[in-house]
Amino acid sequence: MTSDTAISTLHAWQALDSRGKPTVGCEVVLADGSRGDATVPSGASTGTHEARELRDGDAGRYAGNGVLKAVANVEGEIARAVRCRDAADQAALDRRMRELDGTAGLGRLGANAILSVSVAAAVAAARSRGRELWEHAAAMAGREGEAPLLPVPMVNIISGGAHAGRSIDVQDFLVVPLGAGSFAEAIEWASRVREGTAQVLAERGLPVALVADEGGLGPVLPANRTALEVLCRGIERAGLALDGGDGRGVGIAIDIAATQFFDRDGHYVLAAEQRRLTSAELIAELAQWCAEFPIVSLEDALAEDDWEGWPEATRVLGSARSGQHVQLLGDDFFVTSLDRLEDGITARAANAVLVKPNQAGTLSDALDVVRRAHSARYTTVLSARSGETEDTWLADLAVGWRTGQIKVGSTMRSERTAKWNRLIRLESALGGKAGYAGGRELSRFA
Ligand code: PGA
Ligand code: ZN
Repeated sequence: MTSDTAISTLHAWQALDSRGKPTVGCEVVLADGSRGDATVPSGASTGTHEARELRDGDAGRYAGNGVLKAVANVEGEIARAVRCRDAADQAALDRRMRELDGTAGLGRLGANAILSVSVAAAVAAARSRGRELWEHAAAMAGREGEAPLLPVPMVNIISGGAHAGRSIDVQDFLVVPLGAGSFAEAIEWASRVREGTAQVLAERGLPVALVADEGGLGPVLPANRTALEVLCRGIERAGLALDGGDGRGVGIAIDIAATQFFDRDGHYVLAAEQRRLTSAELIAELAQWCAEFPIVSLEDALAEDDWEGWPEATRVLGSARSGQHVQLLGDDFFVTSLDRLEDGITARAANAVLVKPNQAGTLSDALDVVRRAHSARYTTVLSARSGETEDTWLADLAVGWRTGQIKVGSTMRSERTAKWNRLIRLESALGGKAGYAGGRELSRFA
């Protein structure tokens, strides 16, 4: 007998992401008529080791970035392989697609094609069972009985690097509203900081009209540390306190995205400051920043394959803030890969994992990384990409999987606010039934 949640048809299309680049959209229809759809994101500062998007390469359309081949793979090969399979058994469905692709990076059929089916199937299965997606995600993680958990937001205020024309080397300067008592209050604080920072920049005669890829400010600044200094003034202008180590104020998170400025002979090249640093020198520089500014999280402090530097960075920077715990977060370093996380745990490299479902290629693979991270006492930050759509499934995964933290960009641009708004709505709808991770989340396993 066919179950209600058996997959009957797949439909896919070429949609647009927030940078105007094509991306894959997919709808899954189940035997009982339930439908679920999803569009997938795409990065700009992608790690070498992440799952592979399939792009057409046909220069005549969208400069080669079309995804019509990926769309055809969903409707052809993938549809044939997953028809009649149970959309509610996420692990089996994802395993089947991984086997079908046959390559480690999912590049044959396209990780963009596979993820679109993986997510749309979850949305359809949730609908079929009359559940919210976060509830379905909690069941997928085996955490059905637990209270849902609203994550702490990590919010982009100033961008550089690949997200803002490389005006400064460091890619993103973000705030973590540690002391806010709820998710909604945390977003309100972040929004005030963005406004305060824009005012500080405007007073210094720096243009603030240009919005970076994730909705942050993209000013041209003389040095990376100027961004930190401006951000501190922006926090104060917002009437908020810089975090003093007690978790009551606003902390700063930076995404160094160091792979982006690592050169072939092993140096970190800060082009904006005309400096060329070794791994040890970059660590020393970051330690100084941590001592001077209320930095609570450092993402991709070193390059993706700097396996010698990462354990050292973790040891030195993990407590560089006068004894306070600093989160060392691996993005390009772990690429949401269980194997790389396992190697990192063994090497004592990093203490937190950035989880991007499209780096993994399926929901189950991303969930495995969340689980392993927690069992090794690494914190997790679920993350959007710089190229996003208005879709909101990421917000539900954060709540159901209890990732504790989420990063989706700034407090403006609809593809960003769509996720914040979904979380605000869930917090409001769930009321006392949901918990809020709170600022302590960042040092939960320290
Ligand atoms: P990406 O950037 O989506 O362009 O890779 C996001 C990040 O580095 O965290
Ligand atoms: Zn990153």
